[in-house]
Amino acid sequence: MLSTKQIRQKYLDFFKEKRHAVIPSASLVPENDPTTLFTGSGMQPMLPYLLGQKHPLGTRVADAQKCFRSQDIEEVGDNRHTVFFEMLGNWSLGDYFKKEQIPWMWEFLTEVVRLNPKRLYITCFRGNDSLDIPKDIESAQLWQELFKKKGIEAKIADFPERDGLQGARIFYYDEKKNWWSRSGVPGAMPIGEPGGPDTEMFWDFGEKLGLHERSPFASRPCHVNCDCGRFMEIGNNVFMQYKKTTGGFQLLPQKNVDFGGGLERLAAAVNDDPDIFAIDVFVNMRHALVEISGRKYGHDEKDTYAFRVIMDHLRAATFLVGDNILPSNKDQGYFVRRLIRRAVRFAHHLEINDNFCRRLVEAVIQEYRDQYPELAARREEIGLAIHKEEEKFRKTLANGLKIFEEKTSRLAHGDTIPAEVAFDLYQSYGFPLEVTEELARERTLVLDSEGFLKLKQEHQEKSRAASGQKFAGGLADHGEMSTKYHTATHLLHAALRRVLGPHATQRGSNITPERMRFDFNNPAKMTPEQLKETEELVNAAIIRDYPVSWQEMPFEQAKEMGAVGLFEDKYQPIVKVYTVGDPKQKAAADPDGPTFSREVCGGPHVEHTGTMGHFKIIKEEAVSAGVRRIKAILE
Ligand code: ALA
Repeated sequence: MLSTKQIRQKYLDFFKEKRHAVIPSASLVPENDPTTLFTGSGMQPMLPYLLGQKHPLGTRVADAQKCFRSQDIEEVGDNRHTVFFEMLGNWSLGDYFKKEQIPWMWEFLTEVVRLNPKRLYITCFRGNDSLDIPKDIESAQLWQELFKKKGIEAKIADFPERDGLQGARIFYYDEKKNWWSRSGVPGAMPIGEPGGPDTEMFWDFGEKLGLHERSPFASRPCHVNCDCGRFMEIGNNVFMQYKKTTGGFQLLPQKNVDFGGGLERLAAAVNDDPDIFAIDVFVNMRHALVEISGRKYGHDEKDTYAFRVIMDHLRAATFLVGDNILPSNKDQGYFVRRLIRRAVRFAHHLEINDNFCRRLVEAVIQEYRDQYPELAARREEIGLAIHKEEEKFRKTLANGLKIFEEKTSRLAHGDTIPAEVAFDLYQSYGFPLEVTEELARERTLVLDSEGFLKLKQEHQEKSRAASGQKFAGGLADHGEMSTKYHTATHLLHAALRRVLGPHATQRGSNITPERMRFDFNNPAKMTPEQLKETEELVNAAIIRDYPVSWQEMPFEQAKEMGAVGLFEDKYQPIVKVYTVGDPKQKAAADPDGPTFSREVCGGPHVEHTGTMGHFKIIKEEAVSAGVRRIKAILE
C-alpha cells in the first residue's frame, strides 16, 4: 500500500510531468493578507494569480500546502476532523480547464493511486438561475465518459439530498455544496472575491460498515454529502472563473482551475479505513501516547477521542511554531496556546500527569522532516516552546484546582455547583467540563452541566459574531491601511539597503491593518543610530510626497533600472515594477533625489506617499541566523 509520503510525491510528480511548476508550501501565516489569520487552503497564496496577476513560474502550478482551520478545533475527536492538514493543489492560471483537469484527476486517482473506480462518486453544480450561473453539464458528462471507459455505467441524478443515491454515481447539488470561494456560498462573498462552481470526488467506505444506520441521519436516505461518514470527499476541482461585483457575477479575465485535495483523506481512502487517524503519519505519535499512558487506541471511545485530539493538536502546534508562531494571548499565537492546552487537558483524561508534549513533537518532526525542512531546522526551538507552554499550563491547572476547592468548600454532599463556577474554570483555567465533572463526582457534588453548556454556547455565539466582524472588517480595510503598510515595506526596504548596504534584502513580510513586519538579511543587530536613520529616511520619503506608479517591463530591464525584487521574479519574462518617485530615474533611497525606491511587485500601493502618516519602528529582533525582523506602525 502507498504511504502518505508516496501519495504526496506521486501527486507532485504527476503534475510536474504535466508541465506544472512544483512549488514549496507557503507559510501557515499568510503574507500580506490581513483578512485571515491562517492559510486555510492551498489557493490562498494563489489569490493574486487567480485574479490575473502573472505568476513568476508560469500558468501551471502545483504544491502540497500546509493548512490550518481554526474553526474546526471543537470538531476534532471524531474519525475525520483535523485542524491541521496538507492540501494537495494544482492550478491552471488561465491555462487548461475542465477537459484537462477532470481526466487528469481520474488518471491520478485510478491509475497512480490505484483507487477502485467502483468506489468513486462525483458531485457537480446544479446551476442557479437567479445567479445566472448554468448547470455544469460538461463536467458531469466528462466524468461519465471516464467511468464508461472502465466499464462502469455511471448514472447522473439530481436532488440526492431528497431522493438519495438513486442507483447513480454522479450527482448535482446546489451552491451550498458545489460552489467554492474563500467565504463560502455566493451570498456570503464580499465584492471583488473570486469563486466558481466545483466538482468534487468522494470515496465510498461502503455500506457494510453500517455507518449510516448508526448515524443521527439514519431516518433519511443516505447520499454522498450526507454527514454519516460513509462517503468522504477526497478532492475538489473549483472552476474559478467568476468575480462578485455589485451587479452580480462577472467573468474573470481568465478561466482558472483551483484543485485542492486533503492528503490525509486521500491516504484514508487508500487505507480504506474511515478513521483518518489510522493512517501512517500518526503511527509514531500514537505509539508514543500508548507508551506514555498505558492506554490503547481504538478500544474505549473516550480514550480514542482523547488520543485524536492530542495527536491532531500537537501536530498542528508543531507546524505553527515551526512557522514562527509562539504561544501567546493574541492572534495566531492564541491558537497555538489553545491547542497545547487542549492537548494537555485531554492528556489528563488519559491520566498523563507529567510533561509529555515534547515527545510527541519529536514524533511529528521525525515524520515530516523531509518534506518540511523548517521543522528539522527549528527542532530545538519548537520542542522547547511547546514544552514551556505545557509546563505553564500545568501550573494554571493547579491554580484552577485551588479555585475549585475554594468555590466548593462550603457545599455539602449532593449540592449543585453553579454553572458560573464551571464556566469560569473552563474559560479562565482551561478546565474542560469533564474535569470539573470528575472533581464534582469525587466530592459527591452535582454539576449544573446544562447551565454550563448554555453559557458556553452564548459565549461562542458572541465570539463567532466578533470574528465575523473581524473578517469583514479586514476585507473592507484592504484598500486603506494595508495598502499604506504595503508601500511602507518598499520605503523601508530601500532605506535599509541605504543604511546597512545592498545585502539587506527582503526575506518576507507580513501586514495587518494595525502594523507591519519586515524580515531582511543582516548579520547583526541594528544599532540605535541605524534604526533612527532608517526611520528618518522613510519619514522623509513620506513627507516628500512622492508619486507611486508602476510599469511592466522585461526582467532584465527592471534589473538595469535598479529594481529590487525576489529571486523568483527572474523566471518571468515581463515583470510589474513599482516606483516611488520619477519612473525614469534611477532609485537611490535619497529623499532629496527624484526617485526613492523601485521594486518588482504586484501591488497594490498608495498613489502618493504623503497620505501614509508617520512611520515608527517598534522593534528590531532576530528571526534566525542572519535574518532580522522589524516591526513598525504608521501613526
Ligand atoms: N480551494 C478549494 C478548496 O479549498 C480547492 O476546497
